[in-house]
Amino acid sequence: MRTYLVTGGAGFIGSNYIHYMFKKYGDEIRIINLDALTYAGNLENLKEVEGRENYTFIRGDICDKDTVSSIFAQYDIDRVVHFAAESHVDRSIRNPEVFVQTNVLGTAVMLNCAKQAWELPDGSFQEGKRFLHVSTDEVYGSLEEEGEYFYETTPYDPHSPYSASKAGSDMLVKAYMDTYKFPANITNCSNNYGPYQFPEKLIPLIINNALQGKKLPVYGDGKNVRDWLYVEDHAKAIDMVQEKGRLFETYNVGGHNEKQNIEIVNIIIETLQEMLPESDPRKQLVSKELITYVEDRKGHDRRYAIAPDKIREEIGWEPETMFKEGIRLTIQWFFEHEDWMRSVTSGDYQKYYEEMYNTK
Ligand code: NAD
Ligand code: TYD
Repeated sequence: MRTYLVTGGAGFIGSNYIHYMFKKYGDEIRIINLDALTYAGNLENLKEVEGRENYTFIRGDICDKDTVSSIFAQYDIDRVVHFAAESHVDRSIRNPEVFVQTNVLGTAVMLNCAKQAWELPDGSFQEGKRFLHVSTDEVYGSLEEEGEYFYETTPYDPHSPYSASKAGSDMLVKAYMDTYKFPANITNCSNNYGPYQFPEKLIPLIINNALQGKKLPVYGDGKNVRDWLYVEDHAKAIDMVQEKGRLFETYNVGGHNEKQNIEIVNIIIETLQEMLPESDPRKQLVSKELITYVEDRKGHDRRYAIAPDKIREEIGWEPETMFKEGIRLTIQWFFEHEDWMRSVTSGDYQKYYEEMYNTK
């Protein structure tokens, strides 16, 4: 039975990954989920798995080496899947320090504790142990409007405090691989969307606002491009890289699904209008008139686009959920989880929203 230590498993991608893994492997694996439960972490995301005997939740901080090393001492961890991070660009522009703390220092602690637990007296590592560092395409910087793509060989050129801190964490993983032959991989993925995504990010924010007839804030000219991937396809890629990827390699993950932000907003409005029944009073509220162009994000990267050739050719991974279907699945999930949305948008979210969008 393989034992996984998942960090940040109560967040958006981490919780989807845990659901995916139990669906795929059932009782063949054990998962230990270490999460500090910041504003972005929510145990509601894991209700369906919390009763499983092969699942353990530990509330703790990845920056705290006593906590992390005690987990390695207590459990014979085979796989680390490291999601825990501060993940929102706008927050990083307002408050960069916590990004350096969690993303850089936290990753250093994770690497060091795993190294100590897995290293043999001769400096090699126990057979079969693997560390996967989950990272982002934003480390590569910004592309021109058309034509270019991010490859694994593209030089790092991060611009926001978020992407700079993720680049720093990637460099530490690379340093451990180069210096110690530490058994790791890095995945750099494009923008994810799907169930459990916190409504500070574009897609869930637009769905939530549109259903309430609130303004839909579009930064700048709305023509910045992101490459959107359904979150379950990302979960699958992570599992495939750990099972089939060559150690010490980086794999870019993305689905060639580039869209301008304004296109995304329009698609969400049209899909909501299609999916809401006539009898639902929210149908009258959803309208393109809600679209509001607001001040641009500082240092706003123009375009991200992943070339997923390596993961496809070496590992056979391809995205399964096309955007048209993925956005419907996502909207359906939000229809069925109104309580989830209400609970995550109460309290601190209101304060964040008022400050961020000057709605006071
Ligand atoms: P998220 O913000 O939804 O979740 C982050 C989780 O980490 C939360 O549960 C939070 O409580 C936890 N956490 C934060 N600080 C912690 C700490 N010090 N100790 C322990 N836990 C802590 O983020 P996400 O969108 O699920 O992203 C997960 C990972 O994937 C991140 O590393 C992110 O950089 C990367 N990534 C995200 C995207 C995307 O589109 N969301 C795309 C590519 C890569
Ligand atoms: P976001 O979901 O924050 O992801 P990232 O910045 O990591 O790519 O933003 C996606 C795009 O949408 C980005 O170009 C910024 C833009 N955006 C808006 O136009 N309005 C918003 O309210 C938000 C949150 C994002």
